[in-house]
Amino acid sequence: MNFSDLRSILQYVPQFRGRTFVVALDGAVIDSPDFSNILLDLAVLRSLNIKVVLVHGAAAQIEALGARRKVTLSNIDGTGVTDEATLEVSMDAITRLSSAVMQSLTTVKLKAATANAIHAHPAGIIKGIDAGFTGTIEKIDSGVLQSFLDQDILPVVPPLGFDADGQTLRVNSDAVAREVATALNATKVIFVSTEDPRQLSTCRQHQWSGDDALAFVDEHPEFASGMASKLRHAARATRDGVPRVHLISSRSEDALLSELFSNEGVGLMVYSDAYQKVRPATRADVDELYLLIHRAVEDEQLIERSRSDIQGAIDDYIVVEIDGNVVGCVAVHPYPESGKAELACLYVKKGHTGQGYGGILVDAALDRGRQLGYGNLFALSTQAAGYLERAGFVRSEDLNLLPEERHEKWSKNGRNAVLLMRRLE
Ligand SMILES: CC(C)(COP(=O)(O)OP(=O)(O)OC[C@H]1O[C@@H](n2cnc3c(N)ncnc32)[C@H](O)[C@@H]1OP(=O)(O)O)[C@@H](O)C(=O)NCCC(=O)NCCS
Repeated sequence: MNFSDLRSILQYVPQFRGRTFVVALDGAVIDSPDFSNILLDLAVLRSLNIKVVLVHGAAAQIEALGARRKVTLSNIDGTGVTDEATLEVSMDAITRLSSAVMQSLTTVKLKAATANAIHAHPAGIIKGIDAGFTGTIEKIDSGVLQSFLDQDILPVVPPLGFDADGQTLRVNSDAVAREVATALNATKVIFVSTEDPRQLSTCRQHQWSGDDALAFVDEHPEFASGMASKLRHAARATRDGVPRVHLISSRSEDALLSELFSNEGVGLMVYSDAYQKVRPATRADVDELYLLIHRAVEDEQLIERSRSDIQGAIDDYIVVEIDGNVVGCVAVHPYPESGKAELACLYVKKGHTGQGYGGILVDAALDRGRQLGYGNLFALSTQAAGYLERAGFVRSEDLNLLPEERHEKWSKNGRNAVLLMRRLE
């Protein structure tokens, strides 16, 4: 690791300090060899003063115990019908698992306590069938969880709820994670399972807004049902005010820390709107833009611009930021006398390419051109002509189409950039 990696990790520490993260582990993760790494990662989070609530599922353990006892289970994940025999197996499996989790937490010197914090009622009749002892979460006792957190105790929340009569009900752990996060105003939920959500995704996109995540699940029925459930709960959590929900695999090394301490992460992420923003640049962006552009100049992708060039034309720039960091830019320079405008300085930081940010910036530049009332946008490019053609730009040999002053500059700088034009409807 070099110092710039360390710097980019440390930038998150002040943002996360004192915040609450809900970590939701599938039961299968707890039985896997990956669990010891997860425990160490949880200890790292606590050492950074991040408050952690651990929610766990138990489907794998319920299935295994049912098989050992030769009980035909009506349901293992707390979403369908839970009959009496299944409830008994579930309670036994969940109680054993919770105490195993508590023991493991003590090995990494974390104080922990199981919390019966879920008020539920029987789910009732769903699609004509009585769901039996499956519960719907009514309310989370956030006071209990908060008092544990305030005493530096990590609450472990099993997927069992209790109704007003003291009856135990089986609840779904994805729903528990979402409800706990909402009740505690958590900054994040992190769902950890043994499957790699990126492998399951047929789409290259790894980050969605809540609405886009729901649309993705609806359009991809092949997406594994466990993951689809997590994405749906993730979308609802972001709608209910949780800024970010992550889905990661326990199998990829350092998954938890890589997901949390890098902009792009290693899993899937659902965000509330505040996470990714395309916005006009301001004077406060000048230094960041200068550094960004400077890197591209070294690779001969963009022409040099000084700080004062950028500052003088700052109103022309648009940036895309992730987590408050600028990761790409584009400029629309108007040439009012010729009735044309130039798309220039399109750049996406290395490590963030291939995620659609370039396309987002081109769209933002086209919108800006339209708002300014221009009928055409032109661009001069040495290395991205093919990219701009894909965005609807057309090559032209006729350099007389350029505004005069831009034509002169083109002749002088000797880069032989290709001219591309795009009509703005
Ligand atoms: C060109 C650039 C802005 C694209 O940004 P991006 O965020 O990676 O783009 P997107 O995610 O929207 O699109 C990625 C697609 O464009 C393709 N692409 C990227 N750069 C390309 C290029 N120079 N020529 C042709 N295609 C390119 C990728 O191969 C990928 O294709 P795929 O969808 O078939 O896999 C970025 O690569 C960059 O900053 N390049 C260096 C600076 C530069 O040349 N700027 C242009 C000045 S006009």
